[in-house]
Amino acid sequence: MASAMAGRKIVITGGAGFIGHNLALSLKAMGAKVDILDSLQVNNLNAFASNTNNLPNRDLYLSLIQQRLSMLFSADIPVHVIDVRDYHTTGRLLAELQPDVIVHLAAIAHANVANKDPYSTFDHSLRTLENTLDYARQFGTHFVYFSSSMVYGDFPDGFVTEESTCNPLGIYGALKFSGEKMVIAYNQVFDLPYTIVRPSALYGERCVSRRVGQVFIENALQGFQLQVAGDGSDRLDFTYVADVVNGVARIIEDERSRNQIFNMTFGQSRSIAGMIDIVCSHFPDVSVTYIPRDRLMPSRGTLSMDKARRLLDFEPSFPVERGFPLYIDWYKKLFAERQKTPQAAAV
Ligand SMILES: NC(=O)c1ccc[n+]([C@@H]2O[C@H](COP(=O)([O-])OP(=O)(O)OC[C@H]3O[C@@H](n4cnc5c(N)ncnc54)[C@H](O)[C@@H]3O)[C@@H](O)[C@H]2O)c1
Repeated sequence: MASAMAGRKIVITGGAGFIGHNLALSLKAMGAKVDILDSLQVNNLNAFASNTNNLPNRDLYLSLIQQRLSMLFSADIPVHVIDVRDYHTTGRLLAELQPDVIVHLAAIAHANVANKDPYSTFDHSLRTLENTLDYARQFGTHFVYFSSSMVYGDFPDGFVTEESTCNPLGIYGALKFSGEKMVIAYNQVFDLPYTIVRPSALYGERCVSRRVGQVFIENALQGFQLQVAGDGSDRLDFTYVADVVNGVARIIEDERSRNQIFNMTFGQSRSIAGMIDIVCSHFPDVSVTYIPRDRLMPSRGTLSMDKARRLLDFEPSFPVERGFPLYIDWYKKLFAERQKTPQAAAV
């Protein structure tokens, strides 16, 4: 039987990022024709290439980004280096590529950065969204918008479904929620078929975003302390990137995803303390310190995955007890390889 993905033309904006390159490789392997639009400017090559910003582990991150680009090149996935804020360049390229599906990932993807730099976050997140929507509306392109669990704000009783009230806290969540409203408005006005995806706390290979799990492993590997914001009781629905990638593939394949919002996580929260236990089981000598919790970080928990199960027959398969050790093993091998080349070892 021919795969529902075979020959499908998919454009991924922000596709050279963490989620994007993993998604692109997977969709391509399933038979889709994938093109990436990425400026490489935000949390990517150009941002890390500057040697004036004193970023921790800068050389490591540059090599991880280089790995992404090499993997995309080997898989024959074109990376069109353009700024999706540029309306005309983006429109011209999309008109050439004529995608059946646009997955819109381009954004500033970090709540802390967004609160410090609202102007750029607005620009990279909403200007890029409007430009791609404006192309998609003319051709009925299936538009997959990456929102976030941050649209919910504080989770009442630590649990949300797609029906829960959204009450975002801070710039990032508010912009993601505005993005959702714009996508739905394009559906109301132009009949644009859409799917909104709400992921949370992703981890996995070649991430350079310095989210909590990644920093824990890098610190443990370098013999540094693990620093916890709060007392460790905060709960997050940690999600291995493969689960989101497989969920998005189901969204593209299955017509029942059209004009729907889906949580896209593992579907069971874990405490930060629980994640530290996993790290400690792999690095017994590691020590932990605690700093005050960020007041703008909502109190979260589990995102129900029942709707994706029911409508898309999608079952996430990586609880943190399975996915996080895979990620740790990958990092251990990476560091061992880097030890063999003295220049690279100096992360
Ligand atoms: N990673 C997570 O845990 C998570 C959770 C919820 C939602 N999301 C959302 O998923 C999407 C992807 O996240 P990620 O973790 O892969 O982020 P990332 O920072 O790794 O990737 C974002 C990519 O977008 C590109 N980009 C940004 N502005 C651009 C522009 N103007 N033109 C062209 N390209 C541009 C960047 O260069 C980068 O490669 C984002 O929209 C993010 O908000 C991520």
